[in-house]
Amino acid sequence: MLPARAQFPQGFLFGTATSAYQIEGHAFGGAGRTHWDDFAETPGNVVRAETGARACDHYHRWAEDLDLIAAANLDVYRFSASWARVLPQGRGAPNPEGLDFYDRLVDGMVDRGLKPALTLYHWELPSALADLGGWRNRDIAGWFADYTEVLMRRIGDRVWSTAPINEPWCVGWLSHFLGIHAPGLRDIRATARAMHHVLLAHGRAIEVMRGLGVPNLGAVCNLEWADPDGASPEAAAAAARYDAIYNRWFLGGIFHGEYPALALQGLGPHMPANWQDDMALISAPVDWCGLNYYTRKLIAPDPGPWPHTAEVEGPLPRTQMGWEIFPEGLEWFLLRTQAEYSRGLPIFITENGMASPSPFQDPERTDYIGQHLAAVQRAIAQGANVQGYYCWSMFDNYEWSLGYEKRFGLVHVDFDSLKRTPKASYHALTRALARNG
Ligand code: FCB
Repeated sequence: MLPARAQFPQGFLFGTATSAYQIEGHAFGGAGRTHWDDFAETPGNVVRAETGARACDHYHRWAEDLDLIAAANLDVYRFSASWARVLPQGRGAPNPEGLDFYDRLVDGMVDRGLKPALTLYHWELPSALADLGGWRNRDIAGWFADYTEVLMRRIGDRVWSTAPINEPWCVGWLSHFLGIHAPGLRDIRATARAMHHVLLAHGRAIEVMRGLGVPNLGAVCNLEWADPDGASPEAAAAAARYDAIYNRWFLGGIFHGEYPALALQGLGPHMPANWQDDMALISAPVDWCGLNYYTRKLIAPDPGPWPHTAEVEGPLPRTQMGWEIFPEGLEWFLLRTQAEYSRGLPIFITENGMASPSPFQDPERTDYIGQHLAAVQRAIAQGANVQGYYCWSMFDNYEWSLGYEKRFGLVHVDFDSLKRTPKASYHALTRALARNG
């Protein structure tokens, strides 16, 4: 069962989220090559070496897709623009077809009464910039600022909210330390640089958009609750290190202009020169804080090199991703974020949802969303200023290294015929959000 719209504060917004590379079809419309194309074409990186070349073909089917979103009684559509679709070489000449596409898409949302919630970067770095070192190169902040300006001069007048970068932890740590996402590095020095430059790019983009008068700017961070595996002080310390790297680095940078000491213990020696001088720009005020939340991790100490942490299998029920279902973590993060970081700014849950193989009857997804909405209600009752919840995702889509196998959609996509079929969870959400309900 899902709580009805009326059980949330007046004006609470419900939305759904997607991203460009995961749904659009990157082969269409003159988009440039991205580091995800390169990563996927390298054996062993992505299940069945799948890419986003066709994905859901949203590039051609966007009108039908927006109709489905609006028909679900949703208020907000969180989408992203692809840097390489706007600027195929990452800088230089824009692709007019790409700008036209986002222009039409934003108009399409406004026409249907949906608030366009834009993300400027959801991971598809133009290959031409990867050639120059990508997130390891400090110049990326300037390239990103220029891309921001090109795109926002075109659509900045109609978007409702904008976040520069989706999930900086994934850009920094997952992609440069764990090697699980493009560019697939496992290198602490690259990691330290990427973790700093991604926030520098955030800061530059905010500065550009403030200059253009674009309203309602925020940041979107992903958080994973870290529980110690057992009661030993070593396990507690390991969980605290994991928490510092994952959950406190980016919020700390953006809201306090400071990185956590526990993370600097390992990353400090590898940071770019004079990084401290960037912290004022990185922590320029934002208007809201977005949290993406899916799961928790059980963390044990590990004898290996810093950060000396290992993930341990926990006992809770899991999703198709193998992620434990732990709604309490969302409640606690909402309270902690408000108390320690956002300090009263509006908080949005910008992603939450589950992968499941069930094609059409997916009671487990409705249940997952219901449990997390209940966690949101508990946080609100304790004073958290939560103003919206967006479900990941509207459509089954390209789940990065896991290809098309992991299905997160409220709407089923047949990747042969590209037919869209709303799942039972879509219908449950539509009923719960009915405005007269
Ligand atoms: C988030 C990403 C999104 C999707 C979901 C499952 O980390 O933002 O693109 O992969 O996880």
